[in-house]
Amino acid sequence: MAEDFEVKLEKKAYIPAPHYLANSALGNYKEAYNKFTSDPDGFWDEKARELKWMRPWEKVREWNHPYARWFTSAKLNITENCLDRHVNNGRRNKLAIIWRGEDGREEVLTYRQLYRSVMRFANALKSLGVQKGDRICFYMPFVPEHVVAILACARIGAIHSIVYAGFGAEALHSRIRDANAKIVITADVGKRRGKTIPLKSIVDDAVRNAPSVEKVIVLCREKCPLELYSELEVDFYGIQEGMSDECPAEEMDAEDPLFILYTSGTTGSAKGIVHACGGYMVGTHYTCKYIFDIKENDVYWCSADPGWITGHSYIVYGPLSVGATVVITETTPDYPDYGVWWSIIEEFGVSIFYTAPTAIRMFMRVGEEWPNKYDLSSLRIIGSVGEPLNPEAFEWYYRVIGKNRCPILDTWWQTETGMHMITTPLGMPMKPGFAGVPIPGVFADVVDKDGNPVPAGQGGLLVIKGPWPSMMRTVYNNDERYRKYWTQIKDYYTVGDLAVKDDDGYIMILGRSDDIIIVAGHNLGTAEVESALVEHEAVAEAAVIGVPDDIKGQAVKAFVTLVQGYEPSQKLVSELTYHVRMSIGPIAMPNAIEFMDKLPKTRSGKIMRRLLKAKEMGIDPGDISTLEE
Ligand code: PRX
Repeated sequence: MAEDFEVKLEKKAYIPAPHYLANSALGNYKEAYNKFTSDPDGFWDEKARELKWMRPWEKVREWNHPYARWFTSAKLNITENCLDRHVNNGRRNKLAIIWRGEDGREEVLTYRQLYRSVMRFANALKSLGVQKGDRICFYMPFVPEHVVAILACARIGAIHSIVYAGFGAEALHSRIRDANAKIVITADVGKRRGKTIPLKSIVDDAVRNAPSVEKVIVLCREKCPLELYSELEVDFYGIQEGMSDECPAEEMDAEDPLFILYTSGTTGSAKGIVHACGGYMVGTHYTCKYIFDIKENDVYWCSADPGWITGHSYIVYGPLSVGATVVITETTPDYPDYGVWWSIIEEFGVSIFYTAPTAIRMFMRVGEEWPNKYDLSSLRIIGSVGEPLNPEAFEWYYRVIGKNRCPILDTWWQTETGMHMITTPLGMPMKPGFAGVPIPGVFADVVDKDGNPVPAGQGGLLVIKGPWPSMMRTVYNNDERYRKYWTQIKDYYTVGDLAVKDDDGYIMILGRSDDIIIVAGHNLGTAEVESALVEHEAVAEAAVIGVPDDIKGQAVKAFVTLVQGYEPSQKLVSELTYHVRMSIGPIAMPNAIEFMDKLPKTRSGKIMRRLLKAKEMGIDPGDISTLEE
């Protein structure tokens, strides 16, 4: 199998206004990157010193492949950086959280209020017998209490394992069991697109046969007070009655686990990715300050959910560690209409907005009249994460949302990496389709299967060469799975993505390497073909899989959804096939194109090509617990 293959690269670039660079915390990228490479430990030492520690480190890192220890023997508590530091340094009355519910209700918490709420809930957890190292599973809607509870766990050293509240009972059950969770925190209901989702009854199913669970904490949102039926159940506010709102931060070793987050492997059971207190804190703080460039007056909004790593790193820990005002919301982008997100930007004056390509493509499909109804002039920076931001989507996002003015930070990273790894730092020319360059602090490259760098224009495998502070430390209960990441290609960290570099060292992510399609000996990234299809005006979204072919080994099959106003037809099939031929080459031409109303997606918005493939081949799709309803 050929790991390297030619990729046709566009040369287009957008130059941001000079003030972005002039005012950026990172400054000139090349200088910052050189400073890092000349003394990597010194670089991270300096970044770590910007934070509050209870005891300093002996060594910045100890690297014993594939195990890293960062900030050895240092002691800290991440909540001291997210809360105490701000309360004691002039941000006491600054808004930490602005929440908007689906019904339009709003709540705000200043840093002081958040601090007090966290400490009170931390004391309530302690009163239930929770101790440092205990696992606490979350199955919560996105309300302010969710953030409070996360920080309360961190305050006392309990390890949170947040399960996105769109997963079913079985997925929740297996995660509770794998982590041996002592407590489950939930709410009676969640709200989604006008519907009420009975979270508590899903938890009822999930905690059956989960003997580790001692208490289920239930937040009441409807018909309060709650009727709690079993000895297991306690009320979220009930357990806080009479509790003190002073709770000293538990002293955590830099290497103590902060949380477990399950990520769905493309195959097999979910992996419990474990992150450690010290390195994770440094990585998320560093990227919020120097990559997102969050400033004192920014109003920051990341549209993810805390159930994903994006929510952990870039809603909760990172933004709060820099003292930002963070907008959070339970709303979906299409309910009650397609204007709701843009109205949030207008009303709260959001200046940094971070979302996913799947949302951008949905908005493209429904038309720019929706965002155009709102004043988006407060925006300063717009970001993207989760999937390749194809050039079509880049152009639309840049023009319609960023008004040809806001730089786009297309950030490449993973649950496992904890923080941004590749992007186009502020001030650098932005190239549609390219995520960008390794950020200072990260050694990334595109290599062949033996680990040799491939030349510009040749596709290959993305790797990270050497450790970084916010790297995962292990897979919970399965260290073997952890070691695999570091032993497949030389001693590098294998990302599992295909990528290509251009002459300037910009990296384009082509899709997962497990989504690779080899047609007549040529490797094609699914994202590459999908991007070509989406360029066509009739196509809203596309998913591409490889299907067996007697002659070519594999052939391309495409599934597409159409922009409103277009109808499936044989003529359109020919047109799209021709379009792919013209943009990538004959090798990428789909053998078949199927029109769909909707593509199967995970709850985090990733297209589930595996499911399309299983259906196509008439085989068992395996674990589909991550599938959207
Ligand atoms: O394939 C890459 C894609 O998402 C994978 C990581 O998924 P997850 O752990 O769920 O984390 C998503 C949020 C960080 C990567 O291996 N991915 C993530 N960001 C990008 C991306 N692909 C292309 N461009 C990105 N900006």
